[in-house]
Amino acid sequence: MQSTRIRRRKHATAIAVLVFMLTSCADAPQSMFSDAGTEAAQVARLFWVMLAGGTAIWAFVVGLSYYAAKVSPRGFDDKVGLRLIVWGGCVFPTVVLSALLFWGLGMMTDLRRPADGPTIAVSAERFWWRVAYGVEGGPGVARTLPTGGIASANEVWLPVGRRSVILLGSPDVIHSFWVPALAGKTDAIPGRVNRLVLEPTRTGVYSGACAEFCGTAHAQMGFRVVVVSEPEFNAHVQAQAAPAAVIGGAGAELFVRNGCAACHSVRGTPADGRIGPDLTHVASRRTIGAGLLPTSVASIAAFIRSTDHVKPGVEMPAFGMLPEAEIDAIAQWLGQLE
Ligand code: CUA
Repeated sequence: MQSTRIRRRKHATAIAVLVFMLTSCADAPQSMFSDAGTEAAQVARLFWVMLAGGTAIWAFVVGLSYYAAKVSPRGFDDKVGLRLIVWGGCVFPTVVLSALLFWGLGMMTDLRRPADGPTIAVSAERFWWRVAYGVEGGPGVARTLPTGGIASANEVWLPVGRRSVILLGSPDVIHSFWVPALAGKTDAIPGRVNRLVLEPTRTGVYSGACAEFCGTAHAQMGFRVVVVSEPEFNAHVQAQAAPAAVIGGAGAELFVRNGCAACHSVRGTPADGRIGPDLTHVASRRTIGAGLLPTSVASIAAFIRSTDHVKPGVEMPAFGMLPEAEIDAIAQWLGQLE
């Protein structure tokens, strides 16, 4: 009786976890099958065609093996064997692979259309994403990302229906920028700038991840891509360019006094650190800690108190030694910076 109850409870827990996982995916899809970009749609199509082709060929080969082993197990003469090798082993793969190659190359013309959207610089840091809007994307940025622009982090906004340019770089180790719902992966490599064009076709929020092992917190290096209409995009960039909404008060003072300002910038205040994410509009972002926790005063406080537990491997030290009241004041202030 009791074991049945325990089993039922286990089932209920498993279902709850599954529902949570599925709904959390639906919240911000991270799959090329829920494609919302031109390139992802092509990738998904290519996948289905290759899956169908692969399944058909597999079924044919298994059928042939069955035929040879069970239905007609007599030996073939050399002539038939040779013919099988020539047609099945040379001609058939050449034809199939060439067809796939030309079809794949044909996609390039669509994917290589010139960009007509904004240029956004994204630098892959350990272990978060530095984002800058309003940067110039000329040929001068071949080796280093453009500096300046309007700083943000871990959230990239894009206008729908436009071909936006993402300039990708990294100061130290190799990462990979991947938004499955929009496009394939592109590496962020120190010493060079890679160019990725994203053309979202549907508005919404999509999850991205780092797809190249880069260190301890590699798996906690997520981000969100928010696709909106062009006027909304422009309004967002304009809002991000403004100084912080609240530039004074206890939280702001404690932020500077406790050394947070050495790494973080909050524009409009004396905090102008460049090492960590710009926090000028941190509360306007959906997550903190690079896609790790939903933004709230409580999650900001938890992050400050014990970064090492919340995100093992993170570069920011834990500030658990500060009095709770100070952590709360800082978190309250940051929570107002929309
Ligand atoms: Cu950055 Cu993995």
